[in-house]
Amino acid sequence: MSAGPDENGRERIVQASKPADDAEIVAGEQTLEERAQSVASQTDGFEEVQARDLRPRRFQDYVGQRAVVDSISIAVMASKKRGDTLDHALFHGPPGLGKTTIAHIIARELDSLLVHTSGPALERPADVVGLLSNLKKGDVLFIDEIHRLSHAVEEYLYSAMEDFRVDFMTGSGAFAKSINLPLQPFTLIGSTTRAGMLSAPLRERFGLAYHLDFYSTEELAQVVTRSAGILEVDIDSDGAHEIARRSRGTPRISNRLLRRVRDFAEVRNAGTINSKVAAEAMEIEGVDALGLDRLDRLYLTTLSKNYQGGPAGIHALAATINEDQQTLEDVVEPFLLKIGFIIRTPQGRRTTPEGFEHIDLPPRLDGPAGQGTLL
Ligand SMILES: Nc1ncnc2c1ncn2[C@@H]1O[C@H](COP(=O)(O)OP(=O)(O)OP(=O)(O)O)[C@@H](O)[C@H]1O
Ligand SMILES: [Mg+2]
Repeated sequence: MSAGPDENGRERIVQASKPADDAEIVAGEQTLEERAQSVASQTDGFEEVQARDLRPRRFQDYVGQRAVVDSISIAVMASKKRGDTLDHALFHGPPGLGKTTIAHIIARELDSLLVHTSGPALERPADVVGLLSNLKKGDVLFIDEIHRLSHAVEEYLYSAMEDFRVDFMTGSGAFAKSINLPLQPFTLIGSTTRAGMLSAPLRERFGLAYHLDFYSTEELAQVVTRSAGILEVDIDSDGAHEIARRSRGTPRISNRLLRRVRDFAEVRNAGTINSKVAAEAMEIEGVDALGLDRLDRLYLTTLSKNYQGGPAGIHALAATINEDQQTLEDVVEPFLLKIGFIIRTPQGRRTTPEGFEHIDLPPRLDGPAGQGTLL
């Protein structure tokens, strides 16, 4: 499932992409390491991936998101002290801000096994029942894209989360039997880019819920510097800040740009990466001074030119750009909203004067609804 190289390759992680098959993996009296190792060994290039992993492993290495880290680390310490399982926790926010990373850190700080799955991977109720019944006390079940769980699967989670049991039916007709299966106390960590799409009953069952916000340039410069250290890339502080400024507030993008800049510097024999080298490399990548990439600019130009700055509906925009609507909503829009280049109104999306200015268009003074975009 979701696992890119960054998402994988950690000790003590079980990838439960095919939950039914994992019964074998998590069953038995193996130690945590053995249980994880048996899965890790099935992953191609595991060592390689691990060596290159840029993910922070402990709270102290996790840059930024201070309020979130302070709160969750207290909850983790308290539950460890009490010998309790941690409350279920939900992380939401735009892609690449560190939701998966923090879930993995929590499991590590708890000395727990993390079983990694995702909403779309849990197709049938049997998948989730199999997965839940194999959890041991204190294990962390991580469900990525939890907003994409099917309704049927979600219903099983309610009692699992609240009372650590699942009720399910076997057989049918006269042979139907209700089975009540007790579970070991576990911690569910959910991650989503769309908190609004979670049903209220599911959302309410998380004792801890956190929103991750975009990072500041200073924080991203720290991310770049840290990653450069791991990748053994020679970069000065100005170079790190240049990458940080163009990272759309997102550490995943910082790491990606750092790799591209490194390639460029190697090919050009540029030596230490300074802001000039970094800027040149990123221009070639199509990343502008504010970090907008080609898709961001295409969105902005389409809205501003084709739709005269809106209001335009997301369906229409997606069709014009020929891009998936969800990508636009999850990846492109949050940052354009954050920097004030677009606004969302009940009638649709509109370009702001700053947005027009960025793509060198004069701001439009009157909209179809008579609302000036200069207001
Ligand atoms: N606070 C942080 N400090 C340092 N690096 C970070 C931090 N947060 C994220 N990263 C880096 O950014 C990358 C992306 O983070 P992660 O995969 O956790 O994002 P995500 O929120 O789960 O995204 P998605 O919604 O796409 O699943 C990680 O590989 C990690 O290297
Ligand atoms: Mg993730």
